[in-house]
Amino acid sequence: LASIEVNVAALQPGMSLTVKWRGKPVFIRNRTPKELEEANAVQLSDLKDPVARNANIAADAEATGLDRSAGEGKENWIVMIGSCTHLGCVPLGQSGDFNGWFCPCHGSHYDTAGRIRKGPAPQNLAIPTFAFASDTVIRIG
Ligand code: FES
Repeated sequence: LASIEVNVAALQPGMSLTVKWRGKPVFIRNRTPKELEEANAVQLSDLKDPVARNANIAADAEATGLDRSAGEGKENWIVMIGSCTHLGCVPLGQSGDFNGWFCPCHGSHYDTAGRIRKGPAPQNLAIPTFAFASDTVIRIG
């Protein structure tokens, strides 16, 4: 299936973009230093789903701040499928108890790394296959 390229040059810290890929919304966010700090301060033992769910790394990798991000040097970027892992509603950004994403359908709260922290969703928001094609372009798929 086709991959897409997204220009993120205009996304300053604190800005997000939602694109469509394979019929699903994909959230791209340039996180603020505060959001990153919050994500990195979380202990793995506090996570409901301790698995990274990141298609770009090992399937059993842990859901650390780094392994939920776009990787070394790009930690501020997060790219995720915008589909709640409960029943597939589209979560809202910058909301919920953990300042990340909130799914209003049945109340699932995700943190600033898209990890499920509270509510019925069983898994962290999935991270699709993606890579930076250049400093300002992300290729998804
Ligand atoms: Fe998101 Fe149920 S679909 S909480």
